[in-house]
Amino acid sequence: MKILVVGGGGREHAIVKKLKENPAATDVFVWPGNGGIARDATCVPGSATDIEGIVAFAERQGIDYAVVAPDDPLVLGCVDALEAVGVPCFGPRANAALIEGSKAFAKELMKKYGIPTAAFETFDDLDRALAYLDTAPIPTVVKADGLALGKGVVIAFTREEAKQAVISMMRDKRFGRSGERVVIEEYLTGPEVSVLSFTDGETLVPMVSSMDHKRAGDGDTGPNTGGMGTVAPNPYYTPAVAEECMRTIFLPTIRAMKAEGRPFKGCLYFGLMLTPDGPRVIEYNCRFGDPETQVVLPLLESDLLTVMQAVTNGTLADCEVRFSDRHAACVVMASKGYPVSYEKGFEITLPDDLADHVVVAGAALKDGRLVTSGGRVLGVTATGDTLKEALATAYDRVRRVTFANAYYRRDIGEKAMKAGK
Ligand code: AMP
Ligand code: GLY
Repeated sequence: MKILVVGGGGREHAIVKKLKENPAATDVFVWPGNGGIARDATCVPGSATDIEGIVAFAERQGIDYAVVAPDDPLVLGCVDALEAVGVPCFGPRANAALIEGSKAFAKELMKKYGIPTAAFETFDDLDRALAYLDTAPIPTVVKADGLALGKGVVIAFTREEAKQAVISMMRDKRFGRSGERVVIEEYLTGPEVSVLSFTDGETLVPMVSSMDHKRAGDGDTGPNTGGMGTVAPNPYYTPAVAEECMRTIFLPTIRAMKAEGRPFKGCLYFGLMLTPDGPRVIEYNCRFGDPETQVVLPLLESDLLTVMQAVTNGTLADCEVRFSDRHAACVVMASKGYPVSYEKGFEITLPDDLADHVVVAGAALKDGRLVTSGGRVLGVTATGDTLKEALATAYDRVRRVTFANAYYRRDIGEKAMKAGK
């Protein structure tokens, strides 16, 4: 079976490794992949947003099944375009990917269907947004409506900061068209939980919960990043919380999408905050999280390809999706200076026996050697009977991987360890 995975980071590497556990996955292509993924699959150079190029390649190769992993091709209609030429896909169509592509859409959906989230206002007009901020409760949260590489959210602790954020998004177009509209919302507090789920539009099966570490520095300091590490399961996500989320958030969301004529098929990601008043949706993503996938998939005991095909065929209700009750950890090794500015091109030393436990996010092959080519370079993963054991193994492995200017957080999982006691 010929499978095409669209994307090229650590998440895609984790997906490729898991898909390959099924012997039917004989030929796996990744568009564009990266120098590390090239060890496990055939990488095809190209841009993940070149929908025409992806479709032409899929037709030429006779691709049997495609997995579209990143947000931008999903929002641009990559699944619609592949389906139009007869390629079955894992991932939502563009009209459902809007749940991530527009925060204003997601917020209006939650309001209309009573799904708990932060109170909010949406603005298309700069002056109205600034006037609103004269009296809005502070702290407040300013979000660019569209995709902004995870950087379109500003937590403002003063009125001035909030106004600056709005000006930089709406007037100075810091995020281009993504910031022409902004959502200004209530500031919430509480532990954050990521829950990825499989859904075929009717049935929803949550995956094991996880905890991301978004800030660059130890102790949750420094700028926001794409994610510096993850652990699963998330100890704050108790069975009682899980039951409440299923009832008040997960099922109402897929029913709402269906009622709106936008059935969601694929991986729906719930970014949740467990506030003193109950769980609230912070964000939806229309895809697997990165680096959440790197800890969630290693705990999946069922066959990923079978589950994905059940999602595509609308038969998820009849498909077993089983997770292990073990623990997993992922420590991201980044280039020093990420996410602001960093150098690339340093050779990576990766012992062969670690290959199964390392996903490559930003590395290229140069004269047959693996060199750094991005901010997040590698994700080093481990599983264990306890979180403590998973973390200890992950950090032991981190110490055996080397490249110049490597940086990683030393405290991944510490908060979870304390919460779990
Ligand atoms: P997002 O890109 O929407 O996931 O937001 C990035 C981060 O900003 C989240 O992981 C939260 O830590 C924080 N955040 C987003 N919305 C809120 C909110 N309403 N209240 C407090 N923190 C928030
Ligand atoms: N780790 C958060 C995300 O994938 O958006």
